[in-house]
Amino acid sequence: PMKRKFWIDTDTASDDAVALIMAFMNPDIEVVGLSIVAGNVPLDMGVQNALYTAELCAATAPIYVGAAKPLSRDLGTAQFVHGEDGMGDIGLPLSGRTPASGNAVDKLIEAIHLHADHIELVTLGPLTNIALALQQDPSIAKAVKRCVIMGAVADHIGNVTQVAEFNMWVDPEAVDIVLRSGMHLEFVGWDISRTEAVVTPQESAMIRSLGTERANFSVDIQRVLEKFCAEETHLNGFDLPDPIAMAYAIDTSVATEAHHWYLAAETGSALTRGMVVMDTLGVMHQEPNAIVVTRASHEKFMSMLVDALR
Ligand code: RIB
Ligand code: CA
Repeated sequence: PMKRKFWIDTDTASDDAVALIMAFMNPDIEVVGLSIVAGNVPLDMGVQNALYTAELCAATAPIYVGAAKPLSRDLGTAQFVHGEDGMGDIGLPLSGRTPASGNAVDKLIEAIHLHADHIELVTLGPLTNIALALQQDPSIAKAVKRCVIMGAVADHIGNVTQVAEFNMWVDPEAVDIVLRSGMHLEFVGWDISRTEAVVTPQESAMIRSLGTERANFSVDIQRVLEKFCAEETHLNGFDLPDPIAMAYAIDTSVATEAHHWYLAAETGSALTRGMVVMDTLGVMHQEPNAIVVTRASHEKFMSMLVDALR
């Protein structure tokens, strides 16, 4: 049977890298391209981190350089979460690799038309590249089979502010464009990561016992994230938001509950910047525009993670 075709948009830091491995190592998936976006780390670092991770997996997917900053705001990074290099600051040789030539937004649009109705978009960072592509060619919204987004929080407990998740907070204007685009959207929020994708110290040891370079890499690069979890988010280990979003993109049975709601992004307020409001009761009487995963299986996620790393 034909392989499924994925395009991955990522601000490649330590959890993104593990999500990339899960896609690269899956025999049923062809990653037709990656677009890098500024977010966790400045753009060029995200590019180098993605190139390093692809090399580790002997993946040949083209990696294109995308937006260096949000549509209309200054870039806010999360180097305090993932490390200055985004990969745990463990001294990996993360420089000197060359991305594919061509602009990521142009290449994304090209790929969507080439694989119309089949291509599955998975976004792991701010939505700047996707918004730019939609502004350049609104027709892509209907040509994309589905767009799985790691972003927002269905329980409204944010990781950047009380109400905002990082990817949505970085570029709220981009979120607004994507939510109004008519694209088939499926959100896996940081609430799912916080509750079902925390890798405990015991599970880290189990992963290391797999003995592969990918497995050790996937744990080693979470060094700074683990410290952030211990001190800030108070999670027992480190959480992997992008990998559980990728696991869901690969196999929707990772989700044990999901809802079809109307979502809207806050772009005006400073206090609630990047909040993704979810109309759970339908009181706004707007057409639902997204599927939101509200419960998931830690066991299913871990078994898919182990399969990718063994
Ligand atoms: O809020 C978590 C998200 O922000 C993840 O994608 C992480 O990599 C960062 O980009
Ligand atoms: Ca990310």
